[in-house]
Amino acid sequence: MKTTLTIIKADVGSIGGHICPSAQLVNRIKEFVSNEGRRLVLDSYIGFTGDDIAIFVTHTRGVGDHDVHEMAWNAFVAGTAVAKEQGLYGAGQDLLKDAFSGNIRGLGPAVAEMEIDERPNEPFLFFAADKTDPGAFNLPLYLAFADPMYCPGLILSPKMGKGFRFVIMDVEHTGEDRVIELNAPENLYDIATLLRDNERFVVEAIYSRVTGEQAAVISTSRLHNIAGTYTGKDDPVMLVRTQSSFPATGEVLAPFGIGHFVAGGMRGSHTVPLMPVALNCPTSYFDGPPLITCAAFCVHNGKLTEPADAFSHPFWNHVRDKVARKTLEIREQGFSGAAMLPMSELEYTGVVEKLNVLETQFYLRKEKLAAVSG
Ligand code: F6R
Ligand code: MG
Ligand code: MG
Repeated sequence: MKTTLTIIKADVGSIGGHICPSAQLVNRIKEFVSNEGRRLVLDSYIGFTGDDIAIFVTHTRGVGDHDVHEMAWNAFVAGTAVAKEQGLYGAGQDLLKDAFSGNIRGLGPAVAEMEIDERPNEPFLFFAADKTDPGAFNLPLYLAFADPMYCPGLILSPKMGKGFRFVIMDVEHTGEDRVIELNAPENLYDIATLLRDNERFVVEAIYSRVTGEQAAVISTSRLHNIAGTYTGKDDPVMLVRTQSSFPATGEVLAPFGIGHFVAGGMRGSHTVPLMPVALNCPTSYFDGPPLITCAAFCVHNGKLTEPADAFSHPFWNHVRDKVARKTLEIREQGFSGAAMLPMSELEYTGVVEKLNVLETQFYLRKEKLAAVSG
């Protein structure tokens, strides 16, 4: 059976700043999806990561389906009404356009969806990150799908022996999608050359080179490219199928033990490590640290199991401690150097405005001396 897995995620308001949505807001979205989604979807799961609510639905309508996208958009509009009633911060923040038009892509919410031929048993992982951008997934995906140091299946399992095909998007390019397809292991150095630049080149999808099946899909939208101005970080989502001809669940999770530095945190403008946390975890220190949740599921005939919370295991407490340490260490240097993102990635205009004023106050010492003496 062909099943479509669709995740659509947005921040439409949160408590106490950018911490987490209110229970009333989450319940409104759940209620909306269960009523309005009834004729469209086979199953659904609603959860949050920091201040973002994810609507995850299964159906048979294929990717980019008008009605499914419109239902999710309307659910977020209904949620925004609750957020406004409750005076939540940033009500409707990620709904960047006034009305739904055909497809939710480009309207603000993050979208990751994949149509699959269900295997007899179909395990997969649903990741959602807050306070960061889609480049945060570059390193974990490279390590899980192309590096036997993290994914021993690449050398142990004949089902993965030919490696994987990476589809990488140039997210700085606006208008038409600009993508490149590269094979691991042959093009490993080319893949690494692109993926080192997390703000420009982003993994969009990965395919098995043994079966041709799609293994992963990632939301690639950059909010500042849509809005042309600061509207919050992109807070990406991704789906990764696991086991058999794909990396094992543990191989996909392993790179998140690094707590690698990503773009995000306070005002979307800093370099902070990514912290794996339990489902429905709020945001905190320095409007961060950037969070990642992982709900593991199986799906059969479109019906989902309950989620297993992949980062709730005690092992991850140790990783969280390490990430907290790394966060405090880089925060010690405040705005200096690597701690704050480069000019092109700053999500507020203050620095540019100040530099424009300061520019007029610079002078050439030689000319000034000549003017004074002459
Ligand atoms: C929101 C975010 C936050 C805000 C910060 C200031 O996604 O990253 O760090 O940028 O809380 O928010 P404003 O400018 O709305 O007061
Ligand atoms: Mg927010
Ligand atoms: Mg968010």
